[in-house]
Amino acid sequence: MTDLIQEIADLKKREDATILAHYYQDGEIQDLADFTGDSLKLARAATRVSTGTIVFCGVHFMAETAKMLNPEKRVLLPDLQAGCSLAESCPANKLFRYQEMLRENGRRFQTVTYINSSAAVKALSDWIVTSGNAEEIIRRVPADLEILFVPDRHLGQYLEEVTGRKMILWDGSCMVHEIFSVNDLLAMKRKMPTAITLAHPECPANIREHSDFVGGTEAMIRYVADYKEPVDFLVATEANMLWQLQSQQPQHRYHPVPGITCACNKCPHMARNTLVKLRDCLQTGKPEIHWQPEFARAREILQRSLLK
Ligand code: 13P
Ligand code: SF4
Repeated sequence: MTDLIQEIADLKKREDATILAHYYQDGEIQDLADFTGDSLKLARAATRVSTGTIVFCGVHFMAETAKMLNPEKRVLLPDLQAGCSLAESCPANKLFRYQEMLRENGRRFQTVTYINSSAAVKALSDWIVTSGNAEEIIRRVPADLEILFVPDRHLGQYLEEVTGRKMILWDGSCMVHEIFSVNDLLAMKRKMPTAITLAHPECPANIREHSDFVGGTEAMIRYVADYKEPVDFLVATEANMLWQLQSQQPQHRYHPVPGITCACNKCPHMARNTLVKLRDCLQTGKPEIHWQPEFARAREILQRSLLK
């Protein structure tokens, strides 16, 4: 393993590369990344990279976003099959037809799209949001227009609750956050009555309503940092997040809320990236994310939504 890590470090230098890793990657990948973060922090970090190559340890839409924001850089993704159930739940042609139908019915609206979506879907949008800036962007949409929110219905519902703004919601969801077991969460709360529950806004309402704090992964880190004395936290998000929480705020104890069918919830798409694939992609320069025609329009929307 040490040899592999050394090999990656040497290749990174040889290839003039920076490694970005999402908090849902295995700890061993996060450990050797130059930057770790949530979707917003990583998209912003990608614009400040000075090397010619970015290796994105995350899923496909994240690497695509990094490419859109850095057309001149080479962007590599260790496994091109690392997709996302949310992105898949909203195909661009279906969204286009739905928007057309709304327009034909005289509805005046803007489309607000969660960053977990394809470039083609981003190109059909007015705004792109992450869990870190969604509330702020929703408040920027003119009050006389409706909002079509895609693709995550749970995040959309949560945003309706916190902003008081009714939205037309696309019926998509994240396969990881959708299946937390509310019964197991309640049992854990009974066993640890002083524990504090954190939930990602991609979780359904039945999990959110039993949580003390709802926020994206970066917001979770800020929240636990406010507690100086050791606390038990029950964490309802992808299980690798516990590694990051543990390394940043080791004074606390973190307990993963289990899924209905497994003891912890790991994203199978994120898990496709491994140290061996990271080494291989640095060695071969593949798989690479290539510029696509729809990136130009998506880039404009990303820039005004995330960078301004
Ligand atoms: P954030 O880390 O931006 O909260 O996103 C969560 C997620 O599901 C990424 O795929
Ligand atoms: Fe997509 Fe969910 Fe995996 Fe995030 S955790 S990449 S939203 S499937």
